[in-house]
Amino acid sequence: MSNICVLGNFVADNSFYTKKLPVKGQTVFGTGFQIGPGGKGSNQAIAAARLGSEVSFLGKVGDDEFGRMAIDLYKKNNLNHKTVFISKEHPTGVAGIMVNKTDGTNAIIVYPGASMEITKEEVNKFSELITKCKVFLTQLEIKTEVTLHALKLAKEGNAITILNPAPAIKINDEFFKYIDYFTPNETEAEFYYGKKIENYEEAKLAGDFFLSKGVKNSIITLGDMGAYFSNKNKNFSIPALNLKGKVLDTTGAGDAFSGALASGLEKKMEIQDCLNFAIKVSGISTKKKGAADAMPFLKDLS
Ligand code: RIB
Repeated sequence: MSNICVLGNFVADNSFYTKKLPVKGQTVFGTGFQIGPGGKGSNQAIAAARLGSEVSFLGKVGDDEFGRMAIDLYKKNNLNHKTVFISKEHPTGVAGIMVNKTDGTNAIIVYPGASMEITKEEVNKFSELITKCKVFLTQLEIKTEVTLHALKLAKEGNAITILNPAPAIKINDEFFKYIDYFTPNETEAEFYYGKKIENYEEAKLAGDFFLSKGVKNSIITLGDMGAYFSNKNKNFSIPALNLKGKVLDTTGAGDAFSGALASGLEKKMEIQDCLNFAIKVSGISTKKKGAADAMPFLKDLS
C-alpha cells in the first residue's frame, strides 16, 4: 500500500527548443529536440517519488514503445506500477511541446491516447489503494467522470485529496466538495474564477471564491510572484524562489509543485513549510530540460 496514489496521464513529450515560438502560419528553425516522459499525472508521481514518498501511479498506456518508456521510468524511480493498465487497442499518448530557449516558457498540445480510455471499473480495481492512501492526487488530463469518481472514492476513505485543475476545462460544481487542496496556476484560476489574477489581493479574492465553492484549501501558483494560500482560517502569500542562473525549461514546473505538495502533506509538514518546499522543488525543476526527467531528488534541494 503506497502513501500517495496519483491518478492521471502519461504521454511521451516531443519537445522542440527554439529561440522564438512560431506564430500562426510561420515556420521557424529549432535549436534542439528531445523525446522524454511527460503527462501531468505521471510527472507529479515522479516528483513525489524522487522526494522520498512511496507512490503508486494509476493510469493507462499503450502496448508500444512509449508505453514501455513509462514502465521503465516507474521501475527506475521505485514507483508501484502494477496499477498501470496496458491497452491493446489504444496507443500511448504524446505531447508536442515548443519551448522558448530564451526564457524556458512553453506551449503544449497533448494527445492523451490510452490515458483517456481508463474507466471507472478499472479504477475500482484499485479502490482499496485509493481509500487507504494518505494523499490522493489527480489532474484533468483523463475523463472528468473518472476523476470525479476517484475523488469520491478517496473521500470515502481517509485520504487528503489534491486536484491540480490542469489543463483548465469545465468541471461540474459537484467536484469542489471532494477537494481538500485545489492547486490552479494563475491562468487556470482565472478560467474557473472568471477574472484576471495579477496580484495577491486578486489571488485572495479568487481563493475566497474557490472556498465558497466547497474546496477546503486553495493554493494558486503565481509564477514569479510565488503562490497564494487560503482556507477558512488563514490566507498568506509565499514568495517565489530567487533562482540563480538560467531557466532552461518550465515544462512540468507546476507538476513538480503538486508532486512536492503531496509529498510534504504525506510527511505531515506544516502548510507554510510545505509550500516553501513545493516552490523550491518547482523552481529547481526548471534548471533541467524535460518534464519527468527534470524532477529533482531530495539531495538536489540542499
Ligand atoms: O505539465 C506538463 C505536462 O503537460 C507535459 O509533460 C505534457 O505532457 C503535458 O501533459
